Amino acid sequence: MTKPTVFITRIIPNPGLILLNEHFPPEGIAQSALEIWPHDLPPTRTQLIEHARGADGLLCLLTDKIDGDLMDAIGPQLKIISNFAVGVDNIDVSAATARGIPVGNTPGVLTDATADQAFALMMSAGRRINEAERFLRAGNWVTWQPSLLLGADFAGATLGIIGFGRIGQAVAKRAQGFDMRVLYYSPNAQPAYGAQSVDLDTLVRESDFISVHVPFKPETRHLVNADFLAKMKPNAVLVNTARGGVLDQTALYNALKSNQIFAAALDVTDPEPLPMDSPLLELENCVIVPHLGSASKKTRDMMSLLAAQNLIAGLKGERLPNCVNPEIYTS
Ligand code: DGY
Repeated sequence: MTKPTVFITRIIPNPGLILLNEHFPPEGIAQSALEIWPHDLPPTRTQLIEHARGADGLLCLLTDKIDGDLMDAIGPQLKIISNFAVGVDNIDVSAATARGIPVGNTPGVLTDATADQAFALMMSAGRRINEAERFLRAGNWVTWQPSLLLGADFAGATLGIIGFGRIGQAVAKRAQGFDMRVLYYSPNAQPAYGAQSVDLDTLVRESDFISVHVPFKPETRHLVNADFLAKMKPNAVLVNTARGGVLDQTALYNALKSNQIFAAALDVTDPEPLPMDSPLLELENCVIVPHLGSASKKTRDMMSLLAAQNLIAGLKGERLPNCVNPEIYTS
């Protein structure tokens, strides 16, 4: 293979970089042909085009918006776009397909970490952990009180899971250990872990906890809106570890502010980062963390490895181990 050139839009964990170096040692991929954006902040669109122009391979993050114009600006030699994420809503996949470019992602390896995060958030919001810690640090803990900071019960409660793919099922598996009744809404998904398939309306009305696990697409934009929130139980807790755009944040603010629902916990927001003047940050009953669903050491190492494997396969003209537009291989 002649020397491919690659642009990686951020420093990724070592396992992927080691693999790339093994496959493309300096004599194979000239060091100058493998460029890694060294900064903490992502490249701007102009910087991305400037650095990726002429590249055969692009390894990008969910913070990089990759559309057809950008693919064209990189050039017709672009053979592979490898996303360091399972979600690919930052990439115009149809534009890549139209150009015959395979798009890779990192499924499977972040299932448990993301399900753990969903559960941790559900418990933080349900048992008011963050609020209680703020209370303590503010010096308000004067004595044990029978009615201080009371939260939700998990045993016997109903958990509704929207999107019963790998992560949704892993959340159901955890809920079994908490003696919860689990409902799910996910057309075409098979039951697992004792969860019962129901329509969305039933799930929203009957659940004490709702956890969202759908990909962000035009059809899922603002799936959680004012109507949805109005149907939820007043004691209910909403958790979103999917994508911020799945939820209408203004509607959520209104529902939390008026105690229409008990609490919410967000791993993802729209936009990201959440502006510091967001009214959601004023609310005691809203837990917000900075998109950390997959943020465990092992998970990020595995994501790095999978992203590098996709990149290498694409550069070699081989089928990607994890490809989101496999139709390019048949058309
Ligand atoms: C993903 O992979 O899509 C997560 O949101 C980030 O780990």
